[in-house]
Amino acid sequence: MAGIPAPLVVVGNEKGGSGKTTVAIHLIAGAMSAGLRVGGIDLDHRQKSFSHFFENRARWAERAGKDYPLPRIAPVHASERETKSLAEGEDARRLASAVTELSAECDLIVVDCPGADTALGRAAHASASIIVTPMNDSFVDFDLLAGVDPETYEAKAPSVYAEFVWESRKRHMIERRKTIDWLVVRNRMGNIETRNQRRVTEALTKLSQRIGFRLAPGLSERVIYRELFPKGLTVLDLIEGKTKGITMGQIAARAEVRALLAALRLPQFSKVAVAV
Ligand SMILES: Nc1ncnc2c1ncn2[C@@H]1O[C@H](COP(=O)(O)OP(=O)(O)O)[C@@H](O)[C@H]1O
Ligand SMILES: [Mg+2]
Repeated sequence: MAGIPAPLVVVGNEKGGSGKTTVAIHLIAGAMSAGLRVGGIDLDHRQKSFSHFFENRARWAERAGKDYPLPRIAPVHASERETKSLAEGEDARRLASAVTELSAECDLIVVDCPGADTALGRAAHASASIIVTPMNDSFVDFDLLAGVDPETYEAKAPSVYAEFVWESRKRHMIERRKTIDWLVVRNRMGNIETRNQRRVTEALTKLSQRIGFRLAPGLSERVIYRELFPKGLTVLDLIEGKTKGITMGQIAARAEVRALLAALRLPQFSKVAVAV
């Protein structure tokens, strides 16, 4: 797909446990199963779950004698330069060179960020084509985007992570004269809509218009999104090429992953079937 630069999808949220790694892995799995060449960068150097998943996948493929596709993973180590500003400069250069290297061979690059404010995370957000922010259906997670009125549940002023995305967008506009798309994904949704879930939906819908993000179709709470981690597999590997023994839950999970991928609205997908 020459001519279109590889979009940089940065999966971020300063909240740990919101589903960044799960979303990043499934976006990659979905893109690979649609035939795209994908690059990956793990910026969570402490947990390394993203890297471990693909290491598990390579090992399992060898053990099972299967040819599971793998993304190209580019390691980016945090700088150890003596001052903050030297380290930040080096971090930004290291990230940029990894992205350039991956761009040459990939149709799409996915970055998994840590649940904390780091120089590499800041550089990634400021270089993103699209920021994908998973959040649990909870006002605790909502609080990183904006506070809410305790009686009306109306969103108040943008808070820490929304401010950070705003700054990243400003920096991107100054440096590259381009906008960053921002997609908020609700994760671990229950299958019965509770009053809390409805309130979160309403508050998010209003906030999305105010601070400029899109709301993606979410991922439900499903064991299938985590139980295959030790093998480095996803539901897509499980049912690909199979015609029998597929459960409704697996089909629903695949549909959720594909819908999330389609919600990125990347030009790379215009030629690829991501039909549910
Ligand atoms: N949709 C989901 N259904 C079931 N478990 C999930 C789902 N999303 C995340 N999890 C689980 O929640 C935990 C935190 O998710 P993770 O993706 O590691 O978050 P983060 O990268 O933001 O810290 C993990 O145990 C993960 O397997
Ligand atoms: Mg993570």
